[in-house]
Amino acid sequence: MAAAAGTWAFSRPAVERMRRLLLEGGLATDCLQEAMADIENDEKTGRFVVGRGGYPNKQGIIQCDAAIMEGQPGRFGAVAALHGIGTPLAVARKVMEETPHSFLVGDGAVAFAKDQGFTVEDNRSMMSEQSTEAYQEYLEKGKSLKKHDTLGLIALDTFGNITVGVSTSGAPFKYPGRVGDSPMPGCGLYADKEVGAAVATGDGDKIMCFCPCFHAALLMKQGLSPMDACQTVVQDILQRTGKENMFELGIIAMNMKGEVGAASSMPFPYCIWSQGKDSVEQLMQQC
Ligand code: GLY
Repeated sequence: MAAAAGTWAFSRPAVERMRRLLLEGGLATDCLQEAMADIENDEKTGRFVVGRGGYPNKQGIIQCDAAIMEGQPGRFGAVAALHGIGTPLAVARKVMEETPHSFLVGDGAVAFAKDQGFTVEDNRSMMSEQSTEAYQEYLEKGKSLKKHDTLGLIALDTFGNITVGVSTSGAPFKYPGRVGDSPMPGCGLYADKEVGAAVATGDGDKIMCFCPCFHAALLMKQGLSPMDACQTVVQDILQRTGKENMFELGIIAMNMKGEVGAASSMPFPYCIWSQGKDSVEQLMQQC
């Protein structure tokens, strides 16, 4: 059974692409990386807080976070505060596959990417007209932006491999070096081949305090459906923070049967496909 899912409506082309690649017999990690790169590297989708054309930090530099986790135990790679690279998730994958480490940040991550043959661009070519204008407005009016879209994808291939990946330019106009939930294992993503995978989106400074993706995977391990697992995770956080302190969080989970569930604290569209269905479906999770 192959299946694919993605956070937000803008993940639709990525889920479509994973659908095509998975049906051709592609491996989960390859399909996910290819689909992710299309969006990361497209300056038009930067306004969704991803990759090229994403929002820069306080100093005007786009610094991206990305991570990948396979269902096999210990298969994880991440980068954070990475600048000048149009496809951060591909670098995260190289960290997983080519180093004894799991997580590289900042200049070290950039130097590693260069060693691996990635082209490191200057910041100007990573910025789009839209992100330059947004930064100008921030400088002139001090107008901050609460935008945490983030692209999270899950792919389950016909061989029973599951992979989850996430990529973001992080909180707009963040402090240089700020890292969100997205590349943190258990926070922005988690995968376990015995149960499935989960991916989160929203306010990463808060999300990382609750490890929602590990929690969702654990609940699925205990027998909950992906939908019940996600709902339980969000309810648990809500109960602990209280309604007034609840933050933006959207989470989707997929089990090894390709079933998907979601929950959120805000209206949260997400896209899914599973083998046997003709097309990708966009669903809406109400809080
Ligand atoms: N969830 C993305 C971020 O806050 O960086």
